[in-house]
Amino acid sequence: MAPLVPLHFVLLLIIILCSSVLVLSTVPEGKTFQFINQGKFTDGPWSHSADLRRVDPLPSSNPFELFFYRYTTGEGGTDKLVLGLTGGGTYGRDEMLWVWSANRNHPVGENSTLTFTSDGNLVLAESDGRIAWQTNTADKGVTGISMQPNGNLVLHDKAGKFVWQSFNYPSDCLLVGQLLMHSRGKKLVSRASEWDSREGSYSLVIGKYGFIMYVNKSGALVRYAGWEASGLRNVKLDLVQKGVQPTTATFFLTLGFANTYQAANTTFLTPSQPPFIDMTTRAGGFFPAPSPESEAPTPTLAPAPAETPLPKLRPLQRRVMLAKVYFGDLTLMQMRVNVNYSFLRLEPDGNLKMYSFYTASDTHFYGSTANFWDNGDYWENSYAFFGDTVGQCALGSKCGASWSCNTGTCSACPPSGSVGCMINT
Ligand SMILES: *[C@@H]1O[C@H](CO)[C@@H](O)[C@H](O)[C@H]1NC(C)=O
Ligand SMILES: *[C@@H]1O[C@H](CO)[C@@H](O)[C@H](O)[C@H]1NC(C)=O
Ligand SMILES: *[C@@H]1O[C@H](CO)[C@@H](O)[C@H](O)[C@H]1NC(C)=O
Ligand SMILES: *[C@@H]1O[C@H](CO)[C@@H](O)[C@H](O)[C@H]1NC(C)=O
Repeated sequence: MAPLVPLHFVLLLIIILCSSVLVLSTVPEGKTFQFINQGKFTDGPWSHSADLRRVDPLPSSNPFELFFYRYTTGEGGTDKLVLGLTGGGTYGRDEMLWVWSANRNHPVGENSTLTFTSDGNLVLAESDGRIAWQTNTADKGVTGISMQPNGNLVLHDKAGKFVWQSFNYPSDCLLVGQLLMHSRGKKLVSRASEWDSREGSYSLVIGKYGFIMYVNKSGALVRYAGWEASGLRNVKLDLVQKGVQPTTATFFLTLGFANTYQAANTTFLTPSQPPFIDMTTRAGGFFPAPSPESEAPTPTLAPAPAETPLPKLRPLQRRVMLAKVYFGDLTLMQMRVNVNYSFLRLEPDGNLKMYSFYTASDTHFYGSTANFWDNGDYWENSYAFFGDTVGQCALGSKCGASWSCNTGTCSACPPSGSVGCMINT
């Protein structure tokens, strides 16, 4: 008689235990980690000397890597550590560019910890345990963390499905393939300055007017540029590559609309401002400008693969061409560029620029001008919404306390209420 009741309990317990094990997959032992923010900093390569700590247990996918970096504006900087994702450039001639930041507005201090817990949460906490940032993915079936080749940091379940991805939480950059959605993470917000990751004055937002750039003027959001469209639901940065070496890439925004009528009605998606835009700007002028001749395969090179056709538009999508970029004769220059490693960034000054990642192989490229460039990897600016010349006049930051309009092509600050400089005619 007596043993019956305990037996029921035992069976019940077994059932409960089994079912909870079945429901909750956890991170396997050995895949969890904790990184403690301490020890020596590596000097950053950038002119404004950030200090870096590479986050070692975390996965990376060349050229995308996670670092804690310290920004050193004002008061010291030991409590100003930001977890950021960079795309290469840890040595090289130029700044490191951060394509994503976890805790941009909530920097942490020494001895803070980044922990990947067995229940599947990724948590950034101060040394006293206060949580500065987290993915909020505890008990959601996460079994692993990985860096995708396109720069997307993901937490995935055992079927490989993304439970959390950094692409859904953009900072100031949109990488190739990254979808910006109206329903969430719908904007890019510029950095306060090149070295300060905190949110600055400029935002690029998917809203009821389209894909619009705003400047925050003492709390008031003023539109200053963008692409007007109604019913816009999402925006993705895409590209089509033609050839291998030399390479031409056409970068475009793929726009998703709420319904067919709105998509059909949005026939001309020309940028709303500024009045003059150089859509083919190449910074620096180190490469020949795109021309029909330069795109043709030359006899000395291996035959170029057949031209990839532009992908067909889906019914609710439109495409806005940003730039066609010619990457030059990469074989002769002994450098490599994977055009997939490109991104749009809303700049601290409100411009919208695209960068592509170059890898330089050794000392030979650029011959006698080699000392102008350090060796290494770097981001090359390949497009600017506000071009290098007259388009810059329309950039609001050119008309503020520390900026002036007297660049020759730009004349005077506009009447109050509008943004940007007047253009000299
Ligand atoms: C960080 O922790 C170490 C001990 O692990 C300690 O010596 C050091 O003072 C701590 N640093 C700060 C800034 O709290
Ligand atoms: C605009 O800037 C003010 C500070 O001047 C800030 O309080 C506010 O949150 C900002 N608004 C947006 C939408 O960024
Ligand atoms: C369609 O375009 C016209 C002309 O630009 C505009 O007046 C109208 O509001 C648009 N309709 C929708 C639904 O966007
Ligand atoms: C770039 O991405 C496309 C699509 O994902 C892929 O087919 C192609 O191989 C990539 N190119 C390189 C050089 O990795």
